[in-house]
Amino acid sequence: MIEKIGVIGGGMIGGVLCQEIARRRLARSVGLVDIMPPDLAKGKCLDIAEGSPVMRFDVRMEGSKTYEVLEGAQLVINTAGVPRKPKPDGTLPTREELLETNLKITNAVGAGIKEYCPDAIVISIANPLDAIVYRLNQILAPPRGRLMGMAGVLDSARYRYFVAEAAGVSVENVEALVLGGHGDTMVPIRSACRIAGLPVTQFLDEETLQKLEERTRKAGGEVVKLLGSGSAFVSPAWSALEMAEAILFDKKKIVAVSALLDGEYGVSGLFIGVPAILGRNGVEKVLEIPLTDDERKGLDVSIEAVRKTCAEVDAMIQKM
Ligand code: APR
Repeated sequence: MIEKIGVIGGGMIGGVLCQEIARRRLARSVGLVDIMPPDLAKGKCLDIAEGSPVMRFDVRMEGSKTYEVLEGAQLVINTAGVPRKPKPDGTLPTREELLETNLKITNAVGAGIKEYCPDAIVISIANPLDAIVYRLNQILAPPRGRLMGMAGVLDSARYRYFVAEAAGVSVENVEALVLGGHGDTMVPIRSACRIAGLPVTQFLDEETLQKLEERTRKAGGEVVKLLGSGSAFVSPAWSALEMAEAILFDKKKIVAVSALLDGEYGVSGLFIGVPAILGRNGVEKVLEIPLTDDERKGLDVSIEAVRKTCAEVDAMIQKM
């Protein structure tokens, strides 16, 4: 068990994270920071702590409006950001439209981590995912592998769920990968999708697969529309914890993560969703897997979309 996990942002995702970290006893203490008055972070931590005798865990919960609560954290999960909410005209802002607001928040997040736990491994969830991680990397400049984004685990879980449902089999039987940026250009990798070790195409026809891959790409928006306010929060939190557990228990688990590339897939200097081995050092290895021509083309389109958003980040930061 490690000493301390820091959680930044105590809203919908941060709240589930804190509960689950405590219930799973992943650390001796949790430090939660959220700027929301009067003191959202303290309130969430007190609520969880007061339930701890019933759930039988001795994890110390400490919430604060300021970042010193992160002092000494060995792992940090960042959820601070504005989620996708329908605009007054009923349409959804794209993840990129949230960029400016969330960049300002990210500047504060980066400064907080740098001051209080500069050596922590960082998993970031805030959107637009790949661009926010890119900005955090500019601020923190950590050793490669110690900063990553959570997107692929969630996108792959959604793909797996849709496949399992359509094939009428257990979700436990379905393996899949979704790569690229965490946006409409993400690429469900059909050639890596297996049901009980067999190619998914032995179970589902082309038309069904195309439909559920399209649903995967739009899955975040589907939940946003149904909820009416805010975005998915349980599955993103669980997905980040899948990564956290791989790191904390040094599992060497292969999952899709937004990782800093250094030549892999022909890309350098960008965070892109790729398969990687997660262990005690964070992203320990990026795996280059064979892709079909269509998947490679899709990945190139997605990489270009991430590159464009990161160029917007650079331009916006210059003006801030
Ligand atoms: N420092 C700490 N916390 C902050 C800061 C900051 N500078 N700015 C905002 N926050 C907090 C907000 O007060 C809020 O409580 O971040 C929290 C975000 O919580 P929610 O609004 O409930 O959003 P959530 O659904 O948890 O999503 C968080 O993850 O999936 C993405 O798009 C989503 O970017 C969003 C993020």
